[in-house]
Amino acid sequence: MPSEEFRKYGYQLVDRITDYFDCIEEFPVLSKIEPGWLKDNLPASAPEKGEDFNDVLADVDRLILPAVTHWNHPNFHGLFATSTSSVGVFGEMLTSAFDMKAMLWRTSPASTELEDVVLDWLRQMMNLPGSFEGTIYDTASVSTMHAIAAARERAGLDIRVRGMSGRNDLPLLRVYCSEQVHSSIDKAVLTLGLGQNSLRKIAVNERFELIAEKLVEAIVEDIESGYLPLCVVATIGTTSTSSVDPVDAVADICEKFSLWLHVDAAYAGAAAIVPEFQHYFGGWERADSIVVNPHKWLFTPFDLSVLYCRDLAIMKQAFSLIPEYLKTSEESTVKNGMDYGIQLGRRFRSLKLWFVIRYFGRQGMITRLREHCRLARLFESWVNASDNFEMMTPVPFALVCFRACVSSPHVSKDSVDETKLNVLNERIMNDINASGAAYLSHTKLNGKFTIRLSVGSIRVEERHLVKVWELLNAALRK
Ligand SMILES: Cc1ncc(COP(=O)(O)O)c(C=O)c1O
Repeated sequence: MPSEEFRKYGYQLVDRITDYFDCIEEFPVLSKIEPGWLKDNLPASAPEKGEDFNDVLADVDRLILPAVTHWNHPNFHGLFATSTSSVGVFGEMLTSAFDMKAMLWRTSPASTELEDVVLDWLRQMMNLPGSFEGTIYDTASVSTMHAIAAARERAGLDIRVRGMSGRNDLPLLRVYCSEQVHSSIDKAVLTLGLGQNSLRKIAVNERFELIAEKLVEAIVEDIESGYLPLCVVATIGTTSTSSVDPVDAVADICEKFSLWLHVDAAYAGAAAIVPEFQHYFGGWERADSIVVNPHKWLFTPFDLSVLYCRDLAIMKQAFSLIPEYLKTSEESTVKNGMDYGIQLGRRFRSLKLWFVIRYFGRQGMITRLREHCRLARLFESWVNASDNFEMMTPVPFALVCFRACVSSPHVSKDSVDETKLNVLNERIMNDINASGAAYLSHTKLNGKFTIRLSVGSIRVEERHLVKVWELLNAALRK
């Protein structure tokens, strides 16, 4: 594309993105297209000759926008809402312009060194000790997989060379986590060849937190049965309810049995920068590895997940492998990103996080996180004061779990059995989602359909929660 053309369309595109953010509330939160609609409306094969870029942009309006689910919409409350900021978009633009493949320091000095600096800033902001060193991966799923691979390497089983199959000297390895753990832990053990049987899920208490005594029982029982305990995954901010496992007690157990402790703080880790939330993070400084996702709740566009390791050398021991064509003279004095995981080339992701941290500053980020948590607690207070809805879990951060309850005058008394109540709550959520006005998601807690409202958009204000509250009460009355 000639420079003049690039400049012309570049300005147009920034205008379009600006208008998109300014008018985001005019879009339905969830796309209203039927499955297959976009495919049916696109040509089945690529154009033979290049097209006018104006036509491509027109098709963005005509075909792509209707098929977008608007994560930037302030009434996106499903899953964990994205907090992404427009300044982060600039980071993405420059990253793709530079297009560095950061496998070696030499191929990407800026990426390699900025990553170290920015992750050290973030470490300090989160009050983690200087012994933690970070690496950026795409997602928490991949970060956690690498953490468990490092745990396996540290166990000294020579799996890197000898593998796991056909070995009768290798007992079943065990990874422990709570019943509330994210499915990425299951996927990590699948991917690493440990197998699903290696994952032992420990019961939780009524607040959905791992019960430390049950963890000890399970480990002792496994050792007696000849299994080899390897690693425990504790979560700060579980996906379903944002509950917090007793990390300090789990760290004691890991110390006693010499197990790797991985902390999944993919969602709630961001809150560690807020002084009054420090108590949720007690003990995480004793972990061997911690995952935090700035792409969830630190204003950074997807994707950027950080894995902090107390001994990053173990990761290198697990993954470093240098083919001839990647040998360099500075190898012993620099950090080469390819040594710390399965990827060779790595994106220059730290740039957008650097932009975000510099633009908002630590205080700006704290203020926004505090506001999200204030709004979640405000919503909780409306639920608690209402006859129609009830809270299902505590609200440590900015996720509210609740449901329409039997005491509501609008719930017919033959809905008092749990199955009917589940159907009613699902119907309420589906009605709101279908309206396009907001997006809510759900979980099941002890068999009870629970509606989840995540507050996390950088654009969310009190009026957006008022709107959801009105929608919920109207849907209940229907
Ligand atoms: C606690 C927790 N861990 C891990 C993940 C997986 O995140 P990612 O999409 O970055 O793999 C999630 C996703 O919501 C999560 O809530």
